[in-house]
Amino acid sequence: MPIEVISLTAAALLLLILISTSVYTIFLIISWFAGAPYVPTKKKDIEKLLSHVKMKKGELMIDLGCGDGRILRAAAAKYGVRGIGYDVNALVIHFAKIRGRFQNHPLTFERKDIREIDYSQADIIYLYLFPKIILELQERFDTNTKKSVTIISHAFKIPLLEKMLVETIDDKSFKTYVYKRE
Ligand SMILES: C[S@@+](CC[C@H](N)C(=O)[O-])C[C@H]1O[C@@H](n2cnc3c(N)ncnc32)[C@H](O)[C@@H]1O
Repeated sequence: MPIEVISLTAAALLLLILISTSVYTIFLIISWFAGAPYVPTKKKDIEKLLSHVKMKKGELMIDLGCGDGRILRAAAAKYGVRGIGYDVNALVIHFAKIRGRFQNHPLTFERKDIREIDYSQADIIYLYLFPKIILELQERFDTNTKKSVTIISHAFKIPLLEKMLVETIDDKSFKTYVYKRE
């Protein structure tokens, strides 16, 4: 193969890598400033977590900052829950939608800021977010959720719900805090 073709291919590849890295970084920064960077919950942690928190078929689970939607897919596969995932990051929502299309679960994914959505109908709420945005949302967790709701916060506590803490799952890389009213 002529050296010019090799050089041109290498340059094109390098450009592609640079563009992909830049796009990824821009979306990472958007996520970070909105409330938390995109760091997915580890798959082995999801399995452990779902073995602790039992869910019923048909219940509505909302993932606040759903990333690629892995928690919702796993919960739908294991328990048959319905799910809605919200994320501010267009890139990860795009992946969540693509992955969702290959499975026949009742899941929807929307690009939205979780500070603006209504989760009063959720039976289960999952979040893996930084403390700052948890503090912004915690009042609504307390007043604007079903009486029977289960709120699962991965890695960080929800200070206002301290009295509702029913379980701390401690056998994973991060602790997970489970809150319930009854
Ligand atoms: C640590 S990741 C968790 C992803 C997913 N829940 C999981 O456990 O694999 C946090 C996600 O929350 C999203 N996020 C942060 N602030 C947000 C906001 N204000 N509105 C919507 N999504 C937000 C980020 O884009 C990121 O994808």
